[in-house]
Amino acid sequence: MAIDKKFVDQLINVSSKAALSSSYLVGKKDKIAADKAAVDSMRSELNKMDIQGRIVIGEGELDDAPMLYIGEKLGSKNGPELDIAVDPLEGTNFAANNLPGALSVIAISEKNNLFNAPETYMDKISTRVKEKNVVDLDYSIKKNISNLSDYLNKKPENLTACLLDRPRHKKIINELTDLGVKLKLITDGDVSGALMVTDDKFNVDIFLGIGGGPEGVLAAAALDAYDCSFQGRFLFKTNEDITRAKKMGIKNLSKKYEINEIVSGDSIFCATGITSGDLVSGIKIEDDFFVSETLVTHKSTGLKEVIKLKQNI
Ligand code: FBP
Repeated sequence: MAIDKKFVDQLINVSSKAALSSSYLVGKKDKIAADKAAVDSMRSELNKMDIQGRIVIGEGELDDAPMLYIGEKLGSKNGPELDIAVDPLEGTNFAANNLPGALSVIAISEKNNLFNAPETYMDKISTRVKEKNVVDLDYSIKKNISNLSDYLNKKPENLTACLLDRPRHKKIINELTDLGVKLKLITDGDVSGALMVTDDKFNVDIFLGIGGGPEGVLAAAALDAYDCSFQGRFLFKTNEDITRAKKMGIKNLSKKYEINEIVSGDSIFCATGITSGDLVSGIKIEDDFFVSETLVTHKSTGLKEVIKLKQNI
């Protein structure tokens, strides 16, 4: 069953209010306060919705997070059963330092259709090529670039790869550079990074590398609506990570997940800009109004749009 499209407007309201709340803390060098403002707002707006919602991706487990914890039930309880994935402030450094790219992100699916991802790293790869065996997490960088170059009929030097600028990516960065591929190195915010493959205007052909697992699931929800490819594999460093993953029902710890194993059925995704970035502009406050921009997708209706709204504060 599809998710009623009335929830599109309601979710835009949730993410834009969270973005507004966090925007007051932009440039205050306080990641925690900026995050808390977005979390509080998101939780209170979600509780006003006529849904039986359950957090599957949130601020952590109950012990670490009093709000929007994994398993928390939200909504009035009158309405459909939905899985909810949130990242109320994606890019805490961006917000604290008033840098481009801070977002408030939320995705919903029908019950049991969003992956319950552990708070651990994920190795990810995404392109707009849907065909199998062109780009794959198990292929070498060289093979992926050569296949993509053939498939898109673009020389490697005309391809651009987006990835987080991290020491752990040194080898991949060197390999891509040796192949002549252009890099788009992002300092944070790999939900946005992954979504750079959705449209030619961003000039990114492939997104790859290791980032947060929860961010991978959120990005997958939007990438699914854009009919792009995405694969992810969780990486577990500590025994504690492994115990937590097993508790969450993950049996095969090295499994490569395809996009349809991460998100299935209908879904809605919203990302509202807190500070302006590649995807959307940030919150602007004008007297008693605020203007927000939200990238929204709704899989079943084919909606994929940036919605600009002027609302009362
Ligand atoms: P926060 O908003 O929680 O600070 O996350 C930002 C982020 O850049 C994510 O987009 C990304 O998935 C993750 O951090 C990468 O983690 P790390 O900084 O440890 O490489």
